[in-house]
Amino acid sequence: MSRLARVEAGQHPPVGEVVVEADELQRRVAQLGGQISRDYEGRDLFMMGVLKGAVFFLADLMREVHLPCELDFMAVSSYGSLTDSSGVVRILKDLDSSIEGKDVLIVEDIVDSGLTLNYLLRNLRGRNPRSLEVCALLVKPERRKIELPIRYVGFEIPNRFVVGYGLDLDQRYRNLPYVAALDENPGEGRLHAA
Ligand code: IMP
Ligand code: MG
Repeated sequence: MSRLARVEAGQHPPVGEVVVEADELQRRVAQLGGQISRDYEGRDLFMMGVLKGAVFFLADLMREVHLPCELDFMAVSSYGSLTDSSGVVRILKDLDSSIEGKDVLIVEDIVDSGLTLNYLLRNLRGRNPRSLEVCALLVKPERRKIELPIRYVGFEIPNRFVVGYGLDLDQRYRNLPYVAALDENPGEGRLHAA
């Protein structure tokens, strides 16, 4: 049974191969935090997380950033299937405050096609921040449909659907401390690309 058919039937596929181990995540997050702290030295940073997936990454990253920081969130829903976004995005929760004149860093869990991030960048640029950059924990270069300026990238991963460390399938698996691919056809003993 395919992954989608299984979820529609109320079942959840087993977790497959680990793509990024928990200790690798923590090491890279510390490096990114150090780099961000150096790049924004002497400035205040407005860190904006995209709910819900980025919460885990953002909470760890922010503790590695040694700058005065503000924290806020947006929630967006992207129309599309369980695993593919369409680029048509609806804001479910907006920022609580203005970002005008601020140094804003968008923190994303994963950039897949890039359509969601493209929408967010256009929307936030219109609010006149002083600067606007992106920090994405994971990117899937093979899936990218739009070129986007992503200043900080945690890991480039292959074209597989992954879960854990905030990432979900149908709201499940976010609490795994590592990032793993979903074992789509466990009986066949191999992974298929999403
Ligand atoms: P995009 O608009 O195609 O870049 O998709 C972005 C959103 O789709 C991400 O913020 C995730 O919520 C979700 N997404 C994309 N790929 C994955 C994945 O491999 N696992 C879990 N969620 C994903
Ligand atoms: Mg997301």
